[in-house]
Amino acid sequence: MNEQILSLLRNSSTYVSGEDISRQLDISRAAVWKHIQELRQEGYEIVAVPHLGYELVSNPDKLLPLEISSGLGTKIIAKEIHHYDMVPSTMNIAMELAIKGCKEGTVVCAEGQYKGRGRLSRFWSSPKHKGIYFSLVLRPRISAIESPKLTLLSAVSVCEAIRNFTKLDCLIKWPNDLIIDNKKIGGILTEMNAEMDMVKFMIIGIGINVNTPESLLPAHATSLKEKLGSRLLRIELLKEILSAIDKEYILFSRDGFKPIITKWKKFSTTLGHRVKVHFRNVYIEGQAIDIDEQGALLLKRDSGPVERITAGDIVKIR
Ligand code: BTN
Repeated sequence: MNEQILSLLRNSSTYVSGEDISRQLDISRAAVWKHIQELRQEGYEIVAVPHLGYELVSNPDKLLPLEISSGLGTKIIAKEIHHYDMVPSTMNIAMELAIKGCKEGTVVCAEGQYKGRGRLSRFWSSPKHKGIYFSLVLRPRISAIESPKLTLLSAVSVCEAIRNFTKLDCLIKWPNDLIIDNKKIGGILTEMNAEMDMVKFMIIGIGINVNTPESLLPAHATSLKEKLGSRLLRIELLKEILSAIDKEYILFSRDGFKPIITKWKKFSTTLGHRVKVHFRNVYIEGQAIDIDEQGALLLKRDSGPVERITAGDIVKIR
């Protein structure tokens, strides 16, 4: 009902009387008032003027399900959305929902996380109302070994969305760091549950530093606001990201992984460079020459052989 009231207020260029709302939605005037109060509590600024009615003045800067779904034309992604204020990590909540059998495409987002986690068990700084932090449940029909494909698909989608939305030159550092001017502005963490070589579900966790001040981020990171010099509407960027993932995921089911690799290569800041890979106290240096059809990085060592790298961190040497 709150959604319907919002849509009436949004579609009107002037005040909407309580009587009109009550008639159009077939509810009592007292019920209208109760729903308006609920919307205000969620952060919608709605003024009430005697004899005129209600006017929506501003939307909350929150990633509310009602706001996310409004006008979002996705087919699979974000048909079910869970929103939280502060949570330890959206990954755990999405994992629980997935185990209980939630719909594919379910999104769990939070205004802030106090135990946000990144790849290789690192901490992910998630200050409240500053960034976008969400986890997405996917149920792709692939084997566990193919799971990196979905991480790369997500990185390509987020990169495309950021480029469209901000016009900034966002790039991808293997495997899935989102980079602008050599600084990290976002990352993707994938966790999964697989059985007998078939993926049961995957949780794709996406974190973007949107309006985050650099003082709250690690030294190698920055935010879109720092790059653009002005605040961004997190909700609009989130919608762009969800639409991009929906589009790429549908294309992936239809055309396979090749188109994703082509796009990933176009946005790559890794390929063609000399890099040092670090994984579990092992360092390997070489030329990043390609990624293979499973999303692994192909590294040509000086001594000759080409190594297939499936995990780790890389540093560009030149
Ligand atoms: C990385 O290390 O680059 C991946 C960062 C992933 C962070 C996101 S924020 C939403 C979700 N919840 C988490 O705890 N982590 C992911």
